Amino acid sequence: MSNALLSSLPQRVTVVEVGPRDGLQNEAGVVTTADKIRFIDLLSAAGFPVIEATSFVSPKAVPQLADASEVMAGITKRPGTRYSALVPNAKGMERALAAGLREVAVFTGASETFVQHNINTTIAGSIENFRPVVEMARGAGVRVRGYVSTAFGCPYEGAVAPDAVLRVCEMLLDLGVDELSIGDTIGVGTPNQVVELTALLTSRVPLDRLAMHFHDTRGTALANVLAALQMGISIFDSSTGGLGGCPYAPGASGNLATEDLLYLLHGLGIETGVNLDAVVEASRFLAGVRGKAPASRYYAAATAV
Ligand code: HMG
Ligand code: MG
Repeated sequence: MSNALLSSLPQRVTVVEVGPRDGLQNEAGVVTTADKIRFIDLLSAAGFPVIEATSFVSPKAVPQLADASEVMAGITKRPGTRYSALVPNAKGMERALAAGLREVAVFTGASETFVQHNINTTIAGSIENFRPVVEMARGAGVRVRGYVSTAFGCPYEGAVAPDAVLRVCEMLLDLGVDELSIGDTIGVGTPNQVVELTALLTSRVPLDRLAMHFHDTRGTALANVLAALQMGISIFDSSTGGLGGCPYAPGASGNLATEDLLYLLHGLGIETGVNLDAVVEASRFLAGVRGKAPASRYYAAATAV
């Protein structure tokens, strides 16, 4: 590629598939444990380097994922895929360790009101809740990711200052997390914000420890990915079919669809190691379970007759 902006893009991207977690956590209808296991097995077959499979959160907060332990016990783990799960506190970490997890993710946010709704504490309180989680992880050699939600805007507070995002990132790094995922929880971000926030964060955080987690609520997710790629980001979260949202973020629609992300990345000549056709098959399976067509634009094009 001759264009200066395109020639500097990463050659390889890690796609973190969050559909079984971020997607299913928001699903109103019952998805059986067996169907979750089949979905994850199909995703494993597609070759994802990382699959966020479930959440060890309070079953009262997210009833859909109450079967986290059974799901982890039932899936066929593919060598080459790392399986992760959300963990909000020590109790969740005990369950995750008992289920054999080698990677977990703690999650907080850049706006107090969202954090209060999501995990019933303050930002500082969430960091204290994560302290034993990270200590237990260190002891067991488990990798820890830290999510920072509402990094581009909050459903309750509106605009969020980039400095507020940086502060929370630094708190998580001080705690000892290995990677940060910066969440546009309600899909309000635009590429200029991505450039501004990434420039600020990379002044303090190594590029290879930063992931971007876009929701496509207002159709800006792929434009944001391109902006982030141009800033050197090489880890992106997405959800097969574009499933999902956050139960504690009114109006949040699905994540960026994995099919759409892969089409963009592969078209740009960027390697992911993920088989797009196999992702469409996983999406087709879940569409049958849900009785609904996925939001993914690529899926609609690929399955049109
Ligand atoms: P709480 O009510 O303040 O906590 O909830 P608590 O410690 O008082 O516990 C209440 C009850 O839950 C107790 O049971 C605990 O034992 C139980 P009871 O005595 O009433 O029978 N409990 C647990 N059970 C199983 N596993 C656990 C656990 N912890 C407590 N780990 C808490 C606080 C954080 C637990 C709760 O609010 C919670 O689980 N929240 C999770 C919410 C959630 O999963 N949100 C969606 C994920 S975040 C997201 O989607 C954003 C992201 O995608 C990035 C982005 O897009 O921005 C990551
Ligand atoms: Mg999310």
